[in-house]
Amino acid sequence: MTVKTETLDARAINLDEARTLVLRRLERLKPGQALDILTANEPAPILRAALAEFPLAFDFSPLRASPGQWRYHIFRRDTRPQRTVTDYLAWDHDRLDALLESSLDHARRQDWAGAQALAEDFEHGLNRHIEIEEGILFPAFERATGLFADGPTQVMRHEHVDIRQFVTGLVDAARRRDYDGMERHRADLLGVLVPHNMKEESVLYPTTDRFHHEAELESLVLRLMLG
Ligand SMILES: [Fe+2]
Ligand SMILES: [Fe+2]
Repeated sequence: MTVKTETLDARAINLDEARTLVLRRLERLKPGQALDILTANEPAPILRAALAEFPLAFDFSPLRASPGQWRYHIFRRDTRPQRTVTDYLAWDHDRLDALLESSLDHARRQDWAGAQALAEDFEHGLNRHIEIEEGILFPAFERATGLFADGPTQVMRHEHVDIRQFVTGLVDAARRRDYDGMERHRADLLGVLVPHNMKEESVLYPTTDRFHHEAELESLVLRLMLG
């Protein structure tokens, strides 16, 4: 998945100016294109403004957060009548897959700075993805279906532990400039991650969508997006 992505560095301007600038750039984005924004302040007010002005037009996910610097990826989606858990989290799976593959591509070309930065974006994004699943989505699924300790969310939580471990190994290999190590950790990771994502996209997410009314679903997805 190659996404045409522009970058907007708004670190030197205040939050109000950044909000205006980002909204103006988002207005011009076509479906399938993306904008990466860099801000000096936590960008939640900008993201909320984008959601208020263009409610269904964008998906977004954090790329990196460090003191005094936030990077967010904002993607122009097709405007469909409703945003579902499946739409948003399956989009995030694809976005993360693309970061992983891109990191390996850079390592293959011996661009170690690029490989490491992309591996770290992947790690940050995947950890955040796991956090919003465990903190927001799984409890919503469990409440809606009544499936708690013996249900599929427990299996998913165990798999998340392995996934995090393989990702840490992959990032360490990128830092050591060890391409074979990256390949090994990628193979181990995909052995768990591919079936894991498939189960989520075919069972867990659609079931959560089906068990929530339209308004509940919209607020659940917004909590995931801003989480
Ligand atoms: Fe998961
Ligand atoms: Fe997931």
